[in-house]
Amino acid sequence: MLVAAKEMLEKAREGKYAVGQFNINNLEWTKSVLLTAQELQSPVILGVSEGAGKYMTGFKTVAAMVEAMMEELNITVPVALHLDHGTYDGCYKCIKAGFSSIMFDGSHYPIEENIEKTRELVKIAHAMGLSLEAEVGSIGGEEDGVVGAGECADPAECKAIADLGIDFLAAGIGNIHGKYPANWQGLNFDVLAKVKEAVGDMPLVLHGGTGIPEDMIKKAISLGVAKINVNTECQLSFADATRAYIEAGKDQQGKGFDPRKLLAPGAEAIKATVKEKMELFGSVGKA
Ligand code: 13P
Repeated sequence: MLVAAKEMLEKAREGKYAVGQFNINNLEWTKSVLLTAQELQSPVILGVSEGAGKYMTGFKTVAAMVEAMMEELNITVPVALHLDHGTYDGCYKCIKAGFSSIMFDGSHYPIEENIEKTRELVKIAHAMGLSLEAEVGSIGGEEDGVVGAGECADPAECKAIADLGIDFLAAGIGNIHGKYPANWQGLNFDVLAKVKEAVGDMPLVLHGGTGIPEDMIKKAISLGVAKINVNTECQLSFADATRAYIEAGKDQQGKGFDPRKLLAPGAEAIKATVKEKMELFGSVGKA
């Protein structure tokens, strides 16, 4: 059964580790992430962007697939199905579709509007048993057409949003989606420490988990980050493994063109990436 992400993230914050959010794109992605979480006895969050939801024909399909897959695979670790960077309308759709957690990304609105919309969605999400993530200070880079300039969050605004009773907060601290450019300045730990001071025990979320050096990940966790989002890194490992399979001509040998064979190296590569991240984040054995 799907669970809201509140409890697993509060435990993570207390235990000084982070739960990974791994974005899913299709059946292979979902299966690889769920099997790895079960094998490592780690809680996990499946992230679904609006673009990925549309690709999979809609949020209802996604929720039904995940629920059924968990049952068929006997997944017993805590799993949250979470809307990633949701719009106002997208949040309502996911609540209806059976998601267990939503992110409302109101970071591009003036702060007053972000507060008003977040306030309304928290009430509804909680009434339906879902957890809610809010965002202050946009995450840079591009993800599924959502483009953010990458600004550091204002701690006072973080407090105003946290006070609405949200469950966890994404605060921009110089992190961006996708690969980090060579001249990236790194995470801004001064801002992170100030945000933490302003919001107290609220679990914090680090987006743009792909390519952040290990020492920065560990420091971020020590400063209150309890959820780390990873998307691009699984896409890169899937693409690399698929390319290697085809370049080695394996799709031309026997029935190597069978989609179940063709997609297998990529699916295995996702498992390896998820395992590596769960070990780094410290969530192994925390189910
Ligand atoms: P990356 O694609 O950089 O790993 O970021 C993922 C993310 O933050 C999803 O919201």
